[in-house]
Amino acid sequence: MKRDYIDTKDFTKEEIVQLIELGLELKQSIKNGYYPELLKNKTLGMIFEQSSTRTRVSFETAMTQLGGHAQYLAPGQIQLGGHESVADTARVLSRLVDIMMARVERHETVVELAENSTIPVINGMSDYNHPTQELGDAITMFEHLPAGKKIEDCKIVFVGDATQVCASTMFMATKLGMDFVHFGPKGFQLREEHLKIAEENCKISGGSCLVTEDADIALAGADFIYTDVWYGLYEAELSEEERMNVFFPKYQVNAEMISKAAPHVKFMHCLPATRNEEVTDEVLDADYSIVIDEAENRLTAMRALLVYFMNPSYYTKNEEPKVKELVMS
Ligand code: CP
Repeated sequence: MKRDYIDTKDFTKEEIVQLIELGLELKQSIKNGYYPELLKNKTLGMIFEQSSTRTRVSFETAMTQLGGHAQYLAPGQIQLGGHESVADTARVLSRLVDIMMARVERHETVVELAENSTIPVINGMSDYNHPTQELGDAITMFEHLPAGKKIEDCKIVFVGDATQVCASTMFMATKLGMDFVHFGPKGFQLREEHLKIAEENCKISGGSCLVTEDADIALAGADFIYTDVWYGLYEAELSEEERMNVFFPKYQVNAEMISKAAPHVKFMHCLPATRNEEVTDEVLDADYSIVIDEAENRLTAMRALLVYFMNPSYYTKNEEPKVKELVMS
């Protein structure tokens, strides 16, 4: 059966860890100068309904590095949403390329693409979630674990607006068994539908999930602090004045907020950032900021996903992971 990467809800913790390991193996291999041609003769179709730096460039670079090719299908360059239906686009691209990714305005579009494709479809961000960002961020956290701690021992606090990146951070953190906190104002907190998924994850992983407006509870002992832009994703986009009224100064990540977390805290942001709005320059450019590592690990995540989906033996859950074998072959 065909599999897609639309939502990490559809993947077990073991499968996510397998993807992380695959990404790290490939990263090391390429750092050592060995580019395994695992995607030779494969073509990725990249549908974008919005602009993108990290997602677009990392997908295309991953395909090139591993011997394949990517086609950038920008807004207005294909018939999708104009003359041709989503379902017909999915059926046609299934015959023309080997794998597809889509960044869409509405989550329903990427779901419809997947339902009508015979090839794997990867969600490059929707208004609901951002699962490739989740995977890259998980890899980044593994690379920056506090000394003596496992991922399951760590606490991550997402500060500010409940964007799709906030929801995704919660999905991944609770899947991995971390303690997740959303520190955000009422009206801009994670919705019940998101929290239910996190609760299910926690039952399996032993993690925890909390939404609070209390800064001291939220930040105490935090190993990672994450934030995203204040745009009011779920409602009409907020004006700058409205954003400031809702979030500033309480939810701005600044040096004072950082001082309330664990001494070894790392700062995370999916980028792009609105400097000196949701985060100050001082924090974004600090040595404890790992935002550029996160951006780099979008590439680590894309390599892993593309290799995973182009090697169907990975779908067989009972099979032993063949990460090393794949990379070294
Ligand atoms: N974080 C992220 O998805 O960045 P882009 O919008 O540049 O792809």
